[in-house]
Amino acid sequence: FVADKANYRHFMAKEICEQPDVVGRTLAHYVDMSAERAALPIKLPFHFSDVRRATITACGTASYAGAIAKYWIERLAHIPVDVDIASEFRYREAPIRKGDLAIFISQSGETADTLAALRHARDKGAHTVSIVNVPTSTIARESEIVLPTLAGPEIGVASTKAFTCQLMALAAFAVAAGAARGEISASEERGLVRELIEVPRLMAAALACEPQIEKLARTIAKTRDVLYLGRGTSYPLALEGALKLKEISYIHAEGYAAGELKHGPIALIDENMPVVVIAPFDSVFEKTVSNMQEVAARGGRIILMTDARGAAEAAVEPEATILLPDMVPTFAPIVYAVPIQLLAYHTAVIMGTDVDQPRNLAKSVTVE
Ligand code: G6P
Repeated sequence: FVADKANYRHFMAKEICEQPDVVGRTLAHYVDMSAERAALPIKLPFHFSDVRRATITACGTASYAGAIAKYWIERLAHIPVDVDIASEFRYREAPIRKGDLAIFISQSGETADTLAALRHARDKGAHTVSIVNVPTSTIARESEIVLPTLAGPEIGVASTKAFTCQLMALAAFAVAAGAARGEISASEERGLVRELIEVPRLMAAALACEPQIEKLARTIAKTRDVLYLGRGTSYPLALEGALKLKEISYIHAEGYAAGELKHGPIALIDENMPVVVIAPFDSVFEKTVSNMQEVAARGGRIILMTDARGAAEAAVEPEATILLPDMVPTFAPIVYAVPIQLLAYHTAVIMGTDVDQPRNLAKSVTVE
């Protein structure tokens, strides 16, 4: 394999743009498109109805994919899920019982802490499921069940397409679990699968906001700190947005649950502070609007990522609105990942950093 940037300036730009294709490919691996059913590519050695709890363990961006999946698995399959950072999980002596489901997410399949956590869970008798992008990796080899992401090789150190493919595999997994446990009906399953089938097209539409984001990045590049807010599944995406920005632009950024704004970060808000609000028009949108009003009242600069309905009902005048396509919001994080990545990317390009090889970071952390 020879890595090729094609006509792109950086691998990261190429990998962001590839997402509709590779997420679509991952989707096709996990659903039966014509029957509109979730169809995991392997036979599981357990029944979903016997699963009492699940843990998800990963590092970095993969851990945020896990944090989003927690919402999906709990809501669609009613399985309680704990999400852990691998370096915490392995030393925490978390109780694991025989038959628990232990899910590990890793692009490289070689992250030392994630691998150690996998071995720990396996030794305790958990069923180990790994979501990996490199099928020949150590984590894949040592897992009981491997659910591949079909992102293809990811070269940019900051993960983009592997993340959205992880989300797609996890979304299909949650739908499959919900259907197998009878928590969602056959017609609900078909509805959810239809929503997933829409995702690649919606991601392609989201890429169209690139020129606007490029312009916006010029103002972000002049700031010292950026706050990202979100509720529900947009909360872990806010964490990922902040991680992406700091990784490659070296601008300090923090992600926060919008409801926690009052409990600390609101103290930082002034007219120099950009606040990126990730808010598709979903069941918690109204709540996020009141947080935006709190930001606006303190002169904060709101950058709102939402859809047409959200833009109409935002009740504040954002400095910028990134308009994303209308969609049923269940799987919105997969689509909203695109503007988040583009904002970090263009800010880094303006800052002149080494986008694909940011300082001090490694693509795969194989030491503890
Ligand atoms: C490194 C990379 C991140 C990645 C994390 C986990 O920190 O720079 O992009 O999210 O490792 O890597 P993994 O290969 O386990 O997903």
